[in-house]
Amino acid sequence: MQQYLQNKKGLVKNVFDQVYDKYDLMNDFMSLGIHRLWKKNLIHLMSPSPDHKLIDVACGTGDIAKLFLKNTHKLSKVTCVDPNSYMIEKGRQKLKNYKNLNWIIASAENLPLNDNSFDFYTISFGLRNTKNIQKSLAEAYRVLKPGGRFLCLEFSKIQNSNLEFIYKNYSKLIPSIGKFVVGEKKPYEYLVKSIENFVNQEELIELMLKSHFEECNYRNLSGGIVSIHSGWKV
Ligand SMILES: C[S@@+](CC[C@H](N)C(=O)[O-])C[C@H]1O[C@@H](n2cnc3c(N)ncnc32)[C@H](O)[C@@H]1O
Repeated sequence: MQQYLQNKKGLVKNVFDQVYDKYDLMNDFMSLGIHRLWKKNLIHLMSPSPDHKLIDVACGTGDIAKLFLKNTHKLSKVTCVDPNSYMIEKGRQKLKNYKNLNWIIASAENLPLNDNSFDFYTISFGLRNTKNIQKSLAEAYRVLKPGGRFLCLEFSKIQNSNLEFIYKNYSKLIPSIGKFVVGEKKPYEYLVKSIENFVNQEELIELMLKSHFEECNYRNLSGGIVSIHSGWKV
């Protein structure tokens, strides 16, 4: 499934080229720090152990890798993948005291990794940015070991109309907040549009099933502002 905006030449790369330096700060600002709780929730769902291997795709500045390693006494192994070298570099600096980390510059649609290699595949606020969701899911399935689990944390569709009304109005402010914090409005206009255009919870389940994942389900967090989708390679 091709995504229209994300296929505009250079658009997504430009977005993250412009925000990488203040990406973490802006995340805290925009979500009032709640993105940290969403990410912790994702890790709790996995209950990782030291012998587990994670691939975190669209890793950005490495938040998921850091939490995963912290939860496994820094003994597990994590491969972080992102096409944006600036984001990766920020991650490297942030996690410089962590071992067992491998950073790879690549896209979700084309992972330069062997089949059946990982216990977990995570993609946090990343699937929305890929050019092709179906290709990305196929690659996730390929690199997971049989018995491995796919987890996607992503903006989703709000379930309550009052909350939706508040959120829609708040969204209109996001580009101005971006201008204030990062000095750029355009990346945050892209953010709002890409969230609006992204598939809903049930549609993502359908795409996962098409990619052969089993026991697929999701849980909404913060009323569906975000959701975590889970599926298994059996
Ligand atoms: C919103 S950030 C998410 C970063 C991190 N996972 C987090 O939760 O904070 C989205 C990331 O997706 C990356 N990205 C863009 N296109 C991608 C693609 N085709 N495949 C994988 N990652 C991509 C961007 O470079 C960026 O680092």
